[in-house]
Amino acid sequence: MKVLITGGAGFIGSHIAEHYQGIAEEIRVLDNLRTGYKKNLDGLKVTFIEGSITDRELVAKAVEGVDYIFHMAAMVSVPESMQKPRETVDLNVNGLLTVLEEASKAGVKKVVLASSAAIYGDNPIVPKVETMYPEPKSPYGITKLDGEYYMEMFRTTGQVNTGCCRFFNVFGPRQDPKGAYAAAVPIFMEKAIKGEDITVFGDGEQTRDFIYVKDIVGGLTYVAEHPEVTGCITWVTAVRSPSTTSPISSSKPQAPLPRFCTCPSELAM
Ligand SMILES: NC(=O)c1ccc[n+]([C@@H]2O[C@H](COP(=O)([O-])OP(=O)(O)OC[C@H]3O[C@@H](n4cnc5c(N)ncnc54)[C@H](O)[C@@H]3O)[C@@H](O)[C@H]2O)c1
Repeated sequence: MKVLITGGAGFIGSHIAEHYQGIAEEIRVLDNLRTGYKKNLDGLKVTFIEGSITDRELVAKAVEGVDYIFHMAAMVSVPESMQKPRETVDLNVNGLLTVLEEASKAGVKKVVLASSAAIYGDNPIVPKVETMYPEPKSPYGITKLDGEYYMEMFRTTGQVNTGCCRFFNVFGPRQDPKGAYAAAVPIFMEKAIKGEDITVFGDGEQTRDFIYVKDIVGGLTYVAEHPEVTGCITWVTAVRSPSTTSPISSSKPQAPLPRFCTCPSELAM
């Protein structure tokens, strides 16, 4: 089995690369290091291709002979996407289209897309289910939803099999606490390790869903390797912080692995 991970030098992509060590015959990573780091792949056996998903020639080379593609490469920040909507479309929509077109030509078995709970916008209803009306509020969310539609179109027109996973807040090792738009968990962890105060914005009563990166990888690889699992899967969270006024460490994971389903009635949080 050969796999390609776009954005494989990033946080989640590097865990997919780690998962396939000793399992896949070849693990290719296509990454332009926009927000990822080569050091995330230290000690891992991968073929690293430096460049962008918007470079068709490079993508065509990267997908050659590959069985599964994990498409993680994206403009990943909601605030940055608000400032750069055109660049967001270029990366998250045009980049994905290039990957899908070249995957189709190369006879790739399946493409799996990292989508996001951002497609739900500010909808306060929980649990989130696939049938909810999408109300994305940012170029990031809009382009992730666009991506889901293109994935489904390529599948239903027989061009290449696809599956989308909508992640909530992912946490775990190698998550960058330094970026301008870093997620809360790595910032909290870094400050805790240094013995510094942790700042919680708002009134502390807000809630968030978190899922451990290795659970996400378990689900992504399942979706890739099971041709019958298609469409969009909303990730059932593994850890819910009741509110940030309660310590997160008291929130034990509800389930060791995420459950995923294509039917909302199967969802139970
Ligand atoms: N981390 C989360 O909580 C979360 C939640 C929802 C969805 N996602 C999605 O999961 C995916 C991975 O996120 P992450 O947290 O690992 O982010 P990340 O920033 O660590 O990884 C993204 C990777 O994509 C690469 N990249 C960006 N533009 C590229 C381009 N044009 N060509 C090639 N590579 C490019 C970056 O350099 C980086 O290595 C993203 O698509 C993101 O939108 C993440």
